Amino acid sequence: MPTIFITGASSGIGAALAKEYARHGANLILTARRIDRLSDIAKECKKINSNSEILTFQCDVRHEEGFIEPVKQAIEKFGSIDTVIANAGFGVSGALIQLKVEDYRRQFETNVFGVLNTIYATLPELKKSKGKLAIISSVAAYLDLPNSSAYSMSKAAVKSLGGSIYMGLGRYGISVTTICPGFVESEIYRVDNKGVFQPEKKEVVPSWLQMKADKAAKQIRCAIEKRKREAVITLLGKLLVFIYRHFPWIYYFLSRKFYRS
Ligand SMILES: NC(=O)c1ccc[n+]([C@@H]2O[C@H](COP(=O)([O-])OP(=O)(O)OC[C@H]3O[C@@H](n4cnc5c(N)ncnc54)[C@H](OP(=O)(O)O)[C@@H]3O)[C@@H](O)[C@H]2O)c1
Repeated sequence: MPTIFITGASSGIGAALAKEYARHGANLILTARRIDRLSDIAKECKKINSNSEILTFQCDVRHEEGFIEPVKQAIEKFGSIDTVIANAGFGVSGALIQLKVEDYRRQFETNVFGVLNTIYATLPELKKSKGKLAIISSVAAYLDLPNSSAYSMSKAAVKSLGGSIYMGLGRYGISVTTICPGFVESEIYRVDNKGVFQPEKKEVVPSWLQMKADKAAKQIRCAIEKRKREAVITLLGKLLVFIYRHFPWIYYFLSRKFYRS
């Protein structure tokens, strides 16, 4: 059975990926900061496939030492790590004049350095297994979002990281898949600028614009399994990237029209 290591598996896309991989008969190492939420997801995965073995760990991706135990125990129990999904992330929102440098730095600590910590911690095992690495970026990596410069920058950075290491890690037999989702149903819009989940926070994106998380997880798993270099998820995401690439003036016209600070 393949072993899948997922960061940020306590909600949204990460939780949906855990269930998707359980459905396909994988063993799982699930990490996040909220261990109670992880335990619930692990129970749901077990219900989907009782043969899946699941380990859960409290691990904040900002701290490299947090990965020591999950990787060690994963190897003791499963013998290898075949796929690593660097998914943990959140969004700092607000226009430049509303933010401070520390907001940008906080955004990068999780979304960029958290991804690097994940990669360095698991790389020796991926080399042995000639495994698959996936980096969850965003359509925001392509689009210059007026009210989310910190988030767009962080996602552009990891998109660039994925593309840059694709060839080098390929020499070790490791595939690198950069995933750029558009709007996907999750808790991301109810997380504040400090990275804390606020249940009472309102959704800013209408639900009809969001792809169901389980559908997104299917498409993400498919792209990783095929060892694709990059995949843009959701039709709207694909459309926006297309417009931005080929008709940037339309994108900026619409941005200006709908921009609210
Ligand atoms: N949903 C979308 O529309 C969308 C679109 C494009 C890209 N993405 C990306 O998809 C990824 C997953 O986000 P989501 O939409 O599923 O949001 P979500 O429901 O808020 O899930 C985010 C996950 O990341 C974890 N996380 C956040 N900070 C962490 C930290 N410092 N250490 C460890 N885990 C941390 C959270 O767990 P804990 O709070 O328990 O730590 C949670 O499990 C993110 O990288 C996001 O940027 C989402």
